Amino acid sequence: MRRLAIVGNWKLYTTPASARSLALEIREAFVGFKDVDIGVCPPATSLQVVAEVLRGSNVAWGAQNAHWAQEGAFTGEVSAAALKELGCTYVILGHSERRHVFGETDEMVGKRLSFVMHSGLVPILCVGETEQERSEGKTEAALAQQLQVASRGLDGPPDIVAYEPVWAIGTGRRAELADMEAAHRFIRERLVERFENKAKEVRVLYGGSVKPENVAELAASGEMDGALVGGASLSAASFRSIIARALERRRL
Ligand code: PGA
Repeated sequence: MRRLAIVGNWKLYTTPASARSLALEIREAFVGFKDVDIGVCPPATSLQVVAEVLRGSNVAWGAQNAHWAQEGAFTGEVSAAALKELGCTYVILGHSERRHVFGETDEMVGKRLSFVMHSGLVPILCVGETEQERSEGKTEAALAQQLQVASRGLDGPPDIVAYEPVWAIGTGRRAELADMEAAHRFIRERLVERFENKAKEVRVLYGGSVKPENVAELAASGEMDGALVGGASLSAASFRSIIARALERRRL
């Protein structure tokens, strides 16, 4: 079984001061947790303070995006070199809010992904269909396209892919178990087609309205290698209970 990975995406919540308090609570909440990779991705402006708090704990940290060049005239972007220096493990790439609110294309996501992988950071490549694509029966086509373009320049697969149906993010509408399983299987098949055996180790996470009340059903599935958690990762108590329940189901 692949090792469980559960990562919190804090989006544009927290300032350095509130991120510090949340990180302190999270550090305490996960003392003694085993058999799971835990991470949090605060806004870039809070990474330094979160790194100070979490260093030496069993919670890693990461960023919500990274640019495809080491440095240059790229106002507003964040470099992989800076993230490495801040001790980041993860970088979320191609999140639906980046794609749909800020217009990032599959090509841009691919360039970011390739650079992040060469930099030695662990990418979490997000893919997912919109509500319209699902209702028109185009879910698989959307996933295939996003995966294919993003992995064009790669020699090996990304370490982590997160399946995040756009309509499930921040809406309270989690994907049905069978739909999650079908999407995860489809993603793995595409990765195996492209990267052969190397794709077996890729962890496929689910994201989209994961909560303490609904994580157990997903975690019992052999298709789910973890979760990317938005809203519910902003409270140490709910993030802890998501991870505790997921671990409990996997051990049954
Ligand atoms: P949500 O967000 O858990 O608040 O739905 C998930 C995400 O955006 O990664």
